[in-house]
Amino acid sequence: MRIGIPRESRPGETLVAATAKTAEQLAKLGYEVVVESGAGIAADQADEAFTSSGTSVVSADEVWSSDIVVKVNAPSDEEIARLRRGATVISLMAPMRSPELIEKLQAAGVTAMAMDAVPRISRAQSMDVLSSMANVAGYRAVIESANEFGRMFTGQVTAAGKTAPARVFVVGAGVAGLAAIGAASAMGAVVRAFDVRPEVAEQVESMGAEFVQVDMEQEVSSDGYAKEMTAEQEAATAAMYDEEARNADIVITTALIPGRPAPQLISAETIAGMRNGSVIVDMAAANGGNAAATVKDERIVTDNGVVVLGYTDLAGRLAAQTSQLYGTNIVNLLKLLTPEKDGQLTLDMDDVIQRGITVTREGEVLWPPPPVQVSAAPAAPAVVAEPAAPAKPKDPRRKWYAAALAAVLVLLATAYAPADFLGFFTVFVLSVVVGYYVISNVSHALHTPLMSETNAISGIILVGGILQVGSDDPLVMGIALFAVFVASINIFGGFLVTLRMLEMFRKD
Ligand SMILES: NC(=O)c1ccc[n+]([C@@H]2O[C@H](COP(=O)([O-])OP(=O)(O)OC[C@H]3O[C@@H](n4cnc5c(N)ncnc54)[C@H](O)[C@@H]3O)[C@@H](O)[C@H]2O)c1
Repeated sequence: MRIGIPRESRPGETLVAATAKTAEQLAKLGYEVVVESGAGIAADQADEAFTSSGTSVVSADEVWSSDIVVKVNAPSDEEIARLRRGATVISLMAPMRSPELIEKLQAAGVTAMAMDAVPRISRAQSMDVLSSMANVAGYRAVIESANEFGRMFTGQVTAAGKTAPARVFVVGAGVAGLAAIGAASAMGAVVRAFDVRPEVAEQVESMGAEFVQVDMEQEVSSDGYAKEMTAEQEAATAAMYDEEARNADIVITTALIPGRPAPQLISAETIAGMRNGSVIVDMAAANGGNAAATVKDERIVTDNGVVVLGYTDLAGRLAAQTSQLYGTNIVNLLKLLTPEKDGQLTLDMDDVIQRGITVTREGEVLWPPPPVQVSAAPAAPAVVAEPAAPAKPKDPRRKWYAAALAAVLVLLATAYAPADFLGFFTVFVLSVVVGYYVISNVSHALHTPLMSETNAISGIILVGGILQVGSDDPLVMGIALFAVFVASINIFGGFLVTLRMLEMFRKD
């Protein structure tokens, strides 16, 4: 079968659905891949890049007559008219909000697959274009805000004086929000963030931000998506949004519930109370915006000097990288659709991913698909934020009791234990002290590989076990064999986990 990659027709679009590298990967699945001339220019993918990696660059007519057409934006009316009956078109489609598009695809007798309908389940992560794009866009939102903001993000103490770090407030800690938190903290800003889903607090903190607590009833989501706020929640968060936004230099908003208009969270009064030179990047602008002053695709400066950016093309502003990620998501989808790697697309409607993204099949409307049970977080009882009970003061004499007890134990051991015990005991105490200082200086991000590496220390147990395994006492021999077995699992498992995690930290 032939896959065609057309030039995007949407004005200003910089993205392309395949790069030279991903086109080559599609060819390895047995497909003939053709790209429209000029399709990748804005994403640093000139025609020569495609031809030099073995992909044919052809005319638009040839691309549109392909068996499968893969693009970024939903096909326009003219593009649908160019599709062959029975062809397959794969792109973003927003099928939830586009009933007319579905009708047109049905009338054209094509199979349409919506990349933005990939269910958020672990197995589908490698095809999740929305996450790929939101991740890039969250990063870019921080860069855009830094460009507008008249100061450095990081705080400094220099001979010429002290500068305070920028204060960034992120609303919504989904994919885009977490990427924005990561980028802003890496640049040295002090970041605070809020999400209605309390289960993301840990992720927010692991990305370097402080999770803003609100005294209200919050429920852990069962599917990874927020529910619309109740009137009480809205009232409880309104004061927090107002206070946080006024105290921040930069506000990045990403709050959205799929299929609904974006909730308005930053009011006109709050914006009026923000400092001159503050910046709001409203990532939800395409769905109406989270801030009152947002205008889609525009840069607004309010009367009090607050810059409000409503850009909806943030991912496209890093076109080469986003196209590469989008193209890789497409390759992963086609791997699923081409199980024999024979260049033949086969649809399996029993597979939740394939069923979930199929909007029409040869003219038959299959939208909406049955709901998919996603489990982003284990269901947990409702969390009610209550003021913490005052902690019971600790008895200051406690540590003196502990020290006295330890001294008595050491004296007893010296007096009664065998002579070599004291030597072993000293080595043990020193190891604890050295271990404590070494481990507490390892950065948090490396704790998991560190743990798996320390597992490998089980090697010592293995050596002990091997030395004892030849003992005449069957009990000793049995225990030694067991120790060798258990330590071996730990050692080999430890090395495997360590290797896998270190690969994740490798920059190339
Ligand atoms: N501007 C661009 O160029 C661009 C590019 C990509 C994505 N986006 C947009 O960015 C937004 C976020 O995308 P995402 O993939 O991170 O979505 P996501 O679903 O992963 O995250 C949205 C988050 O908002 C939270 N949320 C919902 N209602 C809230 C409320 N009232 N208060 C606080 N938090 C709330 C949700 O719990 C969720 O964590 C979307 O609006 C998306 O369309 C914009």
